[in-house]
Amino acid sequence: MDVNRGQWNSKIGFIMAAAGSAIGLGNIWRFPYVAGENGGAAFVLIYVVFVFAIGLPYMFAELSLGRATQKNPVGAIHAILPGSVWKVAGYLGVFIGIGILSFYAVIAGWTLLYIYKMIVGDPGGFGELIAEPAIVVPLFAIFIALTAFVVHKGVAEGIEKWSKILMPVFFIMLLGTIIFALTLDGASKGLTFYLHPDFSKITWSVVLAALGQAFFSLSLGMGTMITYGSYLSKDDNIVTSGISVAIFDTVIAIMAGLIIFPALFAMGEDPSSGPLLVFVVLPKLFAAMPGGLIVGAIFFILLSVAALTSTISLLEVPVSYVIDEFKMSRPKVVWIVALISFLMGIPSVLSQGASHFYSTLRIFPQSLVDGPDFLSQMSFFFGDIGLAVGAVLLSLFIGWKWTTAKASVEIENGAPGFVKIKGIWGILVKFVIPLVIFIVLLTTLGIV
Ligand code: PHE
Repeated sequence: MDVNRGQWNSKIGFIMAAAGSAIGLGNIWRFPYVAGENGGAAFVLIYVVFVFAIGLPYMFAELSLGRATQKNPVGAIHAILPGSVWKVAGYLGVFIGIGILSFYAVIAGWTLLYIYKMIVGDPGGFGELIAEPAIVVPLFAIFIALTAFVVHKGVAEGIEKWSKILMPVFFIMLLGTIIFALTLDGASKGLTFYLHPDFSKITWSVVLAALGQAFFSLSLGMGTMITYGSYLSKDDNIVTSGISVAIFDTVIAIMAGLIIFPALFAMGEDPSSGPLLVFVVLPKLFAAMPGGLIVGAIFFILLSVAALTSTISLLEVPVSYVIDEFKMSRPKVVWIVALISFLMGIPSVLSQGASHFYSTLRIFPQSLVDGPDFLSQMSFFFGDIGLAVGAVLLSLFIGWKWTTAKASVEIENGAPGFVKIKGIWGILVKFVIPLVIFIVLLTTLGIV
């Protein structure tokens, strides 16, 4: 392989980097509020089923295409079918990466703000703070710059090294905070809401939300796993690595819920209060905890890190595309793409009250997107629709054009046991996965 592209130094390094991509604001910020809006436990159950029945087999497909071609999403498709229109699926991934980064880094900037707020011991005032451009714009810029800094260091030295150290620390912090949250008065009501499914709450829109969350949280549908798979070596085990990533990601999301829901009910907050939920509930929780402000500060530091290992993967997709296809040097590409994403994120960062125009600019109808602000519109367009369309196209491409037979041979390299499940996996990738996502997409958009 071309040494200049870079490769993971170790098996655990890859798992940590891929888990680092998957674990992020999607688990701690998005999962609890989407679960809260969708009735709690029943949503959680469907979510877990989607992660393992749809998300995980799809992840094997992306990883195998990446490793087989050793390329970015556009290059990978080109390597299999030179000059075909399927390349559009790759370009879409590159575009979605920049798009998600542009709003995700805004929220990541808020986590930086809360590190400071915990240190000075002032947990409140979230709504006013995120409306203050002099605060949120620099934080957003800092977050994009941090991302660019790590990505410019390359695969093993940057992405892998950092993920390996910081992910385990984050896990231990979460565990400690759960223990505290469970001791609060009223915690058990939260646990019931979160873990005791009420099947009458399952509606079509709960199913949609669960599928969307599964793809977002596992970083699927935009070729992140094609790109990360391209840095795998031939004897790595795609199956066990993928399973580890899915398990880590799910465990962390479930753990976040074990903090938020007990705390939320103990504090009398409304579980369906939307995207601001975590930023309102968590700081209050820390303020109530003995020595909690220190714990809170460390928690937000680690949440920023978890967000960083995700933004790194978002930036890495477009960056690897430009490096591979235009033979430009990594550092230069990184800073250019980061700048584009920053500019694209300006309306989002101003959309939480700083600019009336962007705060009330509704592009999609309320039946599709709750909030009228630009950030919510971006999150829906790139995070929900973009990833779903991307996943349909990529699974069809891998299943029918590259063929599941060839993909299976690639997966069996390093995972000989895959032979036993390759029949059912092939059916999933060719038929079930694209069909399920397609139906969900059409219903989301109100077409059927
Ligand atoms: N999976 C990340 C999270 O949960 C977000 C993400 C989506 C990252 C798509 C890369 C690609 O925070």
